[in-house]
Amino acid sequence: MARGPDTARRWATLVLLAALGTAVTTTNPGIVARITQKGLDYACQQGVLTLQKELEKITIPNFSGNFKIKYLGKGQYSFFSMVIQGFNIPNSQIRPLPDKGLDLSIRDASIKIRGKWKARKNFIKLGGNFDLSVEGISILAGLNLGYDPASGHSTVTCSSCSSGINTVRIHISGSSLGWLIQLFRKRIESLLQKSMTSKICEVVTSTVSSKLQPYFQTLPVTTKLDKVAGVDYSLVAPPRATANNLDWLLKGEFFSLAHRRPPPFAPPALAFPSDHDRMVYLGISEYFFNTAGFVYQKAGALNLTLRDDMIPKESKFRLTTKFFGILIPQVAKMFPDMQMQLFIWASLPPKLTMKPSGLDLIFVLDTQAFAILPNSSLDPLFLLEMNLNLSVVVGAKSDRLIGELRLDKLLLELKHSDIGPFSVESLQSVINYVMPTIVLPVINKKLQKGFPLPLPAYIELFNLTLQPYQDFLLFGADVHYS
Ligand SMILES: *[C@@H]1O[C@H](CO)[C@@H](O)[C@H](O)[C@H]1NC(C)=O
Ligand SMILES: *[C@@H]1O[C@H](CO)[C@@H](O)[C@H](O)[C@H]1NC(C)=O
Ligand SMILES: *[C@@H]1O[C@H](CO)[C@@H](O)[C@H](O)[C@H]1NC(C)=O
Ligand SMILES: *[C@@H]1O[C@H](CO)[C@@H](O)[C@H](O)[C@H]1NC(C)=O
Ligand SMILES: *[C@@H]1O[C@H](CO)[C@@H](O)[C@H](O)[C@H]1NC(C)=O
Repeated sequence: MARGPDTARRWATLVLLAALGTAVTTTNPGIVARITQKGLDYACQQGVLTLQKELEKITIPNFSGNFKIKYLGKGQYSFFSMVIQGFNIPNSQIRPLPDKGLDLSIRDASIKIRGKWKARKNFIKLGGNFDLSVEGISILAGLNLGYDPASGHSTVTCSSCSSGINTVRIHISGSSLGWLIQLFRKRIESLLQKSMTSKICEVVTSTVSSKLQPYFQTLPVTTKLDKVAGVDYSLVAPPRATANNLDWLLKGEFFSLAHRRPPPFAPPALAFPSDHDRMVYLGISEYFFNTAGFVYQKAGALNLTLRDDMIPKESKFRLTTKFFGILIPQVAKMFPDMQMQLFIWASLPPKLTMKPSGLDLIFVLDTQAFAILPNSSLDPLFLLEMNLNLSVVVGAKSDRLIGELRLDKLLLELKHSDIGPFSVESLQSVINYVMPTIVLPVINKKLQKGFPLPLPAYIELFNLTLQPYQDFLLFGADVHYS
């Protein structure tokens, strides 16, 4: 087959289509978790403390060999029982490497080592202690961040490591025969340099896989909230490093424990602001909250039955045909002196919109009013549709996001009447009273329990900030690792 320009063009089209295909299927995250350089600096401090402990466990092999001295002839020496007294790391930094991962760099580190030496020539045996300092140690390591699409967990591996040692210095203590050791000095220095250089990177690599990787696994992927819903915090893409930040793109979606199905709407793209003064940020899309509304509405968790005994005793408002008869005379006439019941349900999932000016919630509730007959069966009276515009006040409580609904506007519409026509305006004042005093407190009590935020283990947040943006809420905090 000829491989003319036509074929090439066809291939180019295919490649383009494939690229577009991936672009289209890449979904926006419901939550973006961002670690800023300030956060990386703090993480670096904590991580280096762990690394330092591991480096101090390095075992140093014994060295031995032969020597030859003018007039004296040949002999043997050995250096043994060398133990690291301290690994000092004064300078360390973690920087994001755009599109690659993270760079860990350590400079000017030093090690103090204490050991013993002995030398033998025929029947003469000499020995003593010595101190060694290894100085100007540098370590450069690349951390590769990825994710496991099956579990949604993020992964971290050490993709590269190099280390260097500037100087090794021997100090002989308490021996007048120190001059002898000077003879082996160069040899021990170069042997140690070689041995330590390769061991340092071994320790860095194994610390990443044995300490850091398991810590990454403590980030929750799914959390069960209650009997109805769970939250999916799995990664939708590998962690993304930019010049100043490291971003985790999380699904951020509520799901039904009984029957998971994709919500009929997609997450919007989040336009993160670029200036940050906290260590970590969570950009929480309105999508996250709207999937909550979707799941709870579908599960019937937003259904509420109101009876007279649920109304505060001191309230003028009563759920009786006598009270409603004042507003709609035919209620009292057709059902004299009976109790009533309101069945309230969300006919659509509540819809939350986030703007820099605040959070608005549109909630459509249907209310079916019944008269409770003496034999306890229910006789339908009328069906109302309530369009509620609410503002949402959000707050943060350590590791949870809590909310409170406040009623802004309520529009009533009569959808059906079993008792003949009546003016819905007559009910407006009653509903205006019932919603904020009876129905909203029930919902707010649930919202006060809050949503758990996706945090790894042993992290405490402080210095919290919360700011609404277009389509998302930006939550920022400083962290303390305990
Ligand atoms: C190093 O030498 C000491 C003394 O000879 C001995 O006790 C020790 O087991 C040796 N260590 C290793 C790792 O060979
Ligand atoms: C809270 O954050 C601000 C802004 O970064 C900072 O100036 C302040 O020191 C922080 N407070 C604490 C207690 O760390
Ligand atoms: C909630 O109310 C709706 C509308 O009447 C109904 O279809 C649904 O079964 C109810 N769910 C529960 C759990 O009561
Ligand atoms: C309750 O009483 C009403 C009216 O008297 C009657 O129509 C209905 O069938 C009764 N229901 C039951 C369950 O007995
Ligand atoms: C409620 O909010 C929606 C969208 O912001 C708006 O279209 C509607 O007019 C509002 N309704 C009332 C009763 O204010």
